[in-house]
Amino acid sequence: MSSAATNMMWGGRFEEAVDAFVQAFTASVAFDQRMYAQDIAGSIAHATMLAKVGVLTDVERDLIITGLNQVKATIEAGNFNWSIAREDVHMNIESELTDAIGYIGKKLHTGRSRNDQVATDIRLYLRDAIDVITAEIRRLQKGLVGVAEREADSIMPGFTHLQTAQPITFGHHMLAWTEMLERDHERLLDCRKRTNSLPLGAAALAGTTYPIDREYTASLLGFERVCQNSLDAVSDRDFAIEFTSVASILMMHLSRFSEELILWTSAQFHFIHLPDRFCTGSSIMPQKKNPDVPELVRGKSGRVFGHLMALLTLMKGQPLAYNKDNQEDKEPLFDTIDTLLGSLRAFADMMPAVQVRKDITREAARRGFATATDLADYLVKQGTPFRDAHEMVGKAVAYGVASAKDLAEMTLEEIRQFAPNANSDVFDVLTLEGSVAARDHLGGTAPNQVRAQIRRWQKILQH
Ligand code: ARG
Repeated sequence: MSSAATNMMWGGRFEEAVDAFVQAFTASVAFDQRMYAQDIAGSIAHATMLAKVGVLTDVERDLIITGLNQVKATIEAGNFNWSIAREDVHMNIESELTDAIGYIGKKLHTGRSRNDQVATDIRLYLRDAIDVITAEIRRLQKGLVGVAEREADSIMPGFTHLQTAQPITFGHHMLAWTEMLERDHERLLDCRKRTNSLPLGAAALAGTTYPIDREYTASLLGFERVCQNSLDAVSDRDFAIEFTSVASILMMHLSRFSEELILWTSAQFHFIHLPDRFCTGSSIMPQKKNPDVPELVRGKSGRVFGHLMALLTLMKGQPLAYNKDNQEDKEPLFDTIDTLLGSLRAFADMMPAVQVRKDITREAARRGFATATDLADYLVKQGTPFRDAHEMVGKAVAYGVASAKDLAEMTLEEIRQFAPNANSDVFDVLTLEGSVAARDHLGGTAPNQVRAQIRRWQKILQH
């Protein structure tokens, strides 16, 4: 059989065409076509470099670049005919270029391989995605700081073990999430540095015999550095694993956050109101309004954790250098990007619209003996050892449970049954406002401190 019936890109040594199922099974064009812009940018940089070092003439370079830009326009107009016979995004674009400009198009692949080409494309794609994701984190953080500002004085119960612990401010709670997102943001920027390194020039695995200038290609593509070992450059996907692990931590944060929103919207808590546009109803129970957005985000975290495991397993047994296994890196990576972006976007849209029912959150803190620690601290300041104070207050709480009275609702005489040294000023610390205001130090829940943090965040987030 003539090689015409085999793949035109690598069919030279083949005696029969590839089996139709195998062709479909091994093709990646269905999912790697989304890297078309990065593939074309990489090819333009490669051709520019080849002309600089004299491997292509300037005329050839210009013809190739014009042709590639035409291909790009065709793709973006939705008129590109993606072909499984051309296997992947790289060969689809290169073949189309040759169809368009003739045999000069066949010179583009000089001094490179799909192995360094695909590694370059993924790094460019991920670098762009990280920039979009970090911007979305910033948008969410701004929204949270806005809610914190609105609710800097709003009292709610703080929980440990999901039991009422001490009163906190709603603003303080929102800033806790802002802090977590900040670490996620930092981790992404750090991952971006290691992603932003140029593999091109490694060719198939060992480098190439042409006098290439990799530093020049790197500068054209905005890479901060060049991968220093050709075997490493074409084979490792640790940057994708690192990204997916950072994404997993971020999704873990969003999942915890989701869990709180789900609890808070329930009839039992009733702490917040989520506008209808972020919820859906039930087809059978007319009274239902479900917090679908946070529920879905909580569920989607599992899918991202799964992608991390898939990528680690994909790499763990591979000898150097490139293996076809690596084609399996794209779907988990792309789905991680999509899932993360979707989840962040949903949160960034939703959080500024959350309404806090401060009467209810305040009442929940009041009912839960949330100022018990404040009473103990008051007694300690009067000279009672902390352990004894703890015991006295414990008894007062037991009395409160039995008589359905909060500490602030007891008379001084009632409190003195358990804490004989208490004076009338004890009621200052038993109020919820007094309790939060007293935690007035760096990192504390006092509205004062929350406002100081908000000013710090506004500065950080302004650029
Ligand atoms: N589609 C391939 C991938 O995603 C491109 C590289 C293929 N290289 C090769 N020698 N088969 O990894």
